[in-house]
Amino acid sequence: MPLGSNVDIAPATGKLGILLPGMGAVGTTFIAGVLAIRKGLAAPIGSLTQMGAIRIGPRSVGTNPAIRDYVPLADLGDLVFGGWDVFPDDAYVAASRAGVLDGHLLEQLGEELRAIQPMPAVFEQSWVKNLHSDNVKTGSSKMDLADQLTGDIHRFSEENGCDRLVAIWCGSTEIYREATAVHQSLDAFEQGLRDSSPDIAPSQIYAYAFLKQGIPMANGAPNLSLDIPCMLELARQQSVPVTGKDFKTGQTLMKTILAPGFKARMLGVEGWYSTNILGNRDGEILDDPESFKSKEMSKLGVLDTIFQPEVYPDLYGDMTHVVRINYYPPRGDNKEGWDNIDIFGWLGYKMQIKIDFLCRDSILAAPLVLDLALFLDLAQRAGLSGIQEWLSFYWKSPAHPDGVYPEHDLFIQLMKLKNTLRHLKGDELITHLGDEYYD
Ligand SMILES: NC(=O)c1ccc[n+]([C@@H]2O[C@H](COP(=O)([O-])OP(=O)(O)OC[C@H]3O[C@@H](n4cnc5c(N)ncnc54)[C@H](O)[C@@H]3O)[C@@H](O)[C@H]2O)c1
Repeated sequence: MPLGSNVDIAPATGKLGILLPGMGAVGTTFIAGVLAIRKGLAAPIGSLTQMGAIRIGPRSVGTNPAIRDYVPLADLGDLVFGGWDVFPDDAYVAASRAGVLDGHLLEQLGEELRAIQPMPAVFEQSWVKNLHSDNVKTGSSKMDLADQLTGDIHRFSEENGCDRLVAIWCGSTEIYREATAVHQSLDAFEQGLRDSSPDIAPSQIYAYAFLKQGIPMANGAPNLSLDIPCMLELARQQSVPVTGKDFKTGQTLMKTILAPGFKARMLGVEGWYSTNILGNRDGEILDDPESFKSKEMSKLGVLDTIFQPEVYPDLYGDMTHVVRINYYPPRGDNKEGWDNIDIFGWLGYKMQIKIDFLCRDSILAAPLVLDLALFLDLAQRAGLSGIQEWLSFYWKSPAHPDGVYPEHDLFIQLMKLKNTLRHLKGDELITHLGDEYYD
């Protein structure tokens, strides 16, 4: 599309249904958070769509509209929530169990939260070893389970008078598996569903059901779900936008803030050792080595692409990068992440940096769920389909075209996101050249 011609974006009228496979700590912190913000009980801190502004035109003009006024995003008042979980707890009980938000706040949202009951999940124990429960669908085949999900989606949409739907996977991290023959084409995948192929994970059955209905889905966890050829084929066929996976929240967020800075100053890095203690259910799931492997792969990828050791072998060619997560119940959702970074400067002299991030996992993730839901809905209304690199900002593993490395640098990601919004509106992109200020 040429610059200066704005894209036709359908208005954000009517209700937007947000469907969450997985209504645990992140899912309920997101839902309760939006309800609290709607009631004026709290502010949407951490959400770019709600708090962010965007500069339009030169700095000398000072035009900085709020992002939510600049592009047509669904209003928080128009959001309705639903989901599935292997536990039958309603959103009030699940949020109380998760222990992220305080009881006084939850009490004020009690009626609305209690009304959100999870639908029975598509679940297989072999994909999430440390999880046991029974609010689970049974079916004659995996295709039958996908059909049952489709029925749930239609029922939810009708009962809630939804105009549009988006889905965000907030379910547990499934075990690490590579794509197999069944994932290589849509035909092979559909045959695999009919044959109940053991290679098809529950998250992929959800992804199939959503994309088949033309509903965009994002994957908050690191497991293989939409990033397989059959799903990209289905997304293309249904003209649905797809984006990356695994919310970029605590330690990896810090990495993608700091690493671009070291590289900008041409400081070398010899080693980056990261460890975490985490006591929520996510931590318990990740205690299983096969689920942790999915997370580890997603976390490790970030530094290599930022540092480009092939371009800067003297600075980053021999770096040791280690990531550990230990399940430690006393901390609950309040994760502690330590980083030890061994860097070197002028003439190779060594230095160390230590970070101790006492974070709250779901408090960092909830605004990302909101932004992704609103931006995916915007993308859908703007007719953007296929890989949406401008949403890399939110992911540990951003989606990217073949032959192009993913962009992990948080600041490039933000520039890309904002320039995409300017592009959608037909405004001039900001290049930071700045030559308009000089004669
Ligand atoms: N909080 C963060 O900062 C963060 C960052 C990146 C990724 N994540 C990922 O987000 C996901 C959610 O995290 P959380 O802290 O809410 O975990 P959680 O364990 O509290 O919640 C996950 C929920 O998913 C449910 N579930 C599992 N498999 C399901 C299925 N097949 N269908 C429906 N429900 C299913 C579980 O019963 C559980 O209630 C995890 O995969 C986690 O790794 C979280």
